[in-house]
Amino acid sequence: HADNLPGGDNVIVDFEDGIAWVRFNRPEKRNAMSVGLAEEMNEIFDALEVDDRCGVIVLTGIGDAWSAGMDLKDFFRATDGLSDVHRHRAYRSTRAWQWRTLMHYAKPTIAMVNGWCFGGAFTPLICCDLAVTDEKAVFGLSEINWGVIPGGVVSKAISTLMGDREAMYYVMTGEKFTGARAKELGLVNEAVPAEQLVERTRELAKILLEKNPTVLRQARMAYKFARYMDWEQAAEYLTAKMDQLAFVDPEKGKQEGLKQFLDEKSFRPGHGNYTR
Ligand code: ACO
Repeated sequence: HADNLPGGDNVIVDFEDGIAWVRFNRPEKRNAMSVGLAEEMNEIFDALEVDDRCGVIVLTGIGDAWSAGMDLKDFFRATDGLSDVHRHRAYRSTRAWQWRTLMHYAKPTIAMVNGWCFGGAFTPLICCDLAVTDEKAVFGLSEINWGVIPGGVVSKAISTLMGDREAMYYVMTGEKFTGARAKELGLVNEAVPAEQLVERTRELAKILLEKNPTVLRQARMAYKFARYMDWEQAAEYLTAKMDQLAFVDPEKGKQEGLKQFLDEKSFRPGHGNYTR
């Protein structure tokens, strides 16, 4: 675990040239997510958001699992005996990092799915901005297989990326599918051979690190909010967001980009970034 970060043993964070590798660290439990893991994730994501060592986050797992979903013992059975209020606090703490924090996080996030990905693990997978998987990783909405529904916010999350027919098929059958199939379903950007997974993810992270971080943040937020608005609201919101960007961007990227393209003719936006 890198210096000066909160947390315990359930999650390990390492920094590498602007990339924060955040790793589930319960390989002996296939990285199943307990209440304790949620508490650590909440602290870690809070800290990384304002840590200059982190420009982009890669969320991945140690061992042969990305995450086998919620820990059936330390999340479900452990909370079953609690009062309603205490149980809901535990659920809320899990939803906090898996959905609320990741969905609107200040820094870009990539899920790097290195193995098993079941049930509750679909929420952080989907709430990360981008996802790359081992083509042979195994995914499944296994809830039906052990007598529950895709809860938390899993059913909602899958409906944002999967088509209804496919989502319903996997919700109802609990059938497993591969990383290659996850790509076809729109759950990940890319499915690559295992030996290329880390390098391809690193490459993608580096592309993001070259961008103006303020513009990148605003572009991600704009997309994530605009998709739920009607056209009129989206037009109004995006125009305001564009104006806001000019105000909050310390690099004044737009002015610089226009100058380099129109006046200096030193770059073409169609081919790549302006020089920062
Ligand atoms: N919750 C609690 N413990 C788990 C979980 C889980 N989700 N997944 C694995 N473990 C534990 C096992 O109980 C076992 O513990 P033990 O060593 O104390 O006996 C250990 O992790 C290793 O697991 P195995 O099952 O022995 O590993 P194997 O490699 O054979 O299988 C697999 C891996 C397929 C992922 C299997 O563990 C599995 O089916 N896990 C459950 C997957 C699942 O359906 N998750 C819940 C989704 S629904 C939801 O999240 C709401």
